[in-house]
Amino acid sequence: MANRSHNNTRHIAMNSLKKAGKSHSSLETIDVSTTNETTHAIITCDCLELLRQIPDESIQLIVCDPPYNILMSDWDNHHDYVEWASKWLVEAKRVLASTGNLVIFGGLQYQGEAGSGDLLSLMQYLRSGDLLLANLIIWYYPNGMGAQRFFSNRHEEIAWYGKTRKYYFDLDSVREKFDEKTKQAYLRDKRLRPESIEKGKNPTNVWRINRLNGNSKERVGHPTQKPIVLIQRIIRALSYPNSMVLDFFAGSGVTSRVAIAEGRNSICSDIDPSLHTYFDEHMKNFYEQNPLFYSNLKHKVYRDDEFNMHPVFQVAREGNFSRKI
Ligand SMILES: C[S@@+](CC[C@H](N)C(=O)[O-])C[C@H]1O[C@@H](n2cnc3c(N)ncnc32)[C@H](O)[C@@H]1O
Repeated sequence: MANRSHNNTRHIAMNSLKKAGKSHSSLETIDVSTTNETTHAIITCDCLELLRQIPDESIQLIVCDPPYNILMSDWDNHHDYVEWASKWLVEAKRVLASTGNLVIFGGLQYQGEAGSGDLLSLMQYLRSGDLLLANLIIWYYPNGMGAQRFFSNRHEEIAWYGKTRKYYFDLDSVREKFDEKTKQAYLRDKRLRPESIEKGKNPTNVWRINRLNGNSKERVGHPTQKPIVLIQRIIRALSYPNSMVLDFFAGSGVTSRVAIAEGRNSICSDIDPSLHTYFDEHMKNFYEQNPLFYSNLKHKVYRDDEFNMHPVFQVAREGNFSRKI
């Protein structure tokens, strides 16, 4: 209920701003000038070790796809999951800018097996804090495994939190085009504004995007790799050109791949050093599919030992940031 009333308030506020010819504060305060030169760090590191070196309010978007205690791998075995997660959630909030956003992936279907934690546990923990739940996005995938003892699972959730009410949201960058027949019908309707019809529709909080099949060309080898189009929608809507995107459970490094293509800066880290091999494979595929980008998109990638050459860590290097690991 609390969240619905927050959303209603937001819609009303947005509409009244629009009528007054003004825009949302998150759009007014941000310089959205673009550049095609971006910086990226690809680091092998424990999430907390990395987060503790990142200065306050230096990150626009955190893409967070954590391990969920479901014993899929060595890293999936936290005894007190929420206690562990609360440590990186506190740090995540600290590093987010006031316009910043945090998205957390997860499913609820593992509750019986998960022991101490799943997305629901994290959302329950965050309920008592002051991050603002903006949407619970349902990622609906038509493809997946069959089941006999329950309905086959076809969705995963993505909880999107804003750090403050000034969170950045660029709906226009992710609108879906109307099909030609619908568009023509709407254009004949004099009550509708042609510019709005051209822009397309809100993609809603139910996203129909296929999961990666085992033999998908996009796969680089990570067992829980997320689709590029899914990360792309998040990065486009919740970060702006040249801003900083962080993924401290980076897995395959898909977040940096998308950040490079979308003109954002990024930091991707994972406790598993295979991140480097997966990321290289991502970039190889990327350039094969987009040969023109190779010469047009300038970006610098810092790895492991040289990671503190990345601009985000400059504040720490210059002594303005005292936290030590
Ligand atoms: C669900 S996967 C992320 C997949 C990624 N979103 C992708 O699309 O490729 C979770 C990742 O968290 C990493 N991980 C687990 N515990 C960690 C820790 N304490 N610090 C950093 N990374 C960790 C695992 O190695 C794993 O790659």
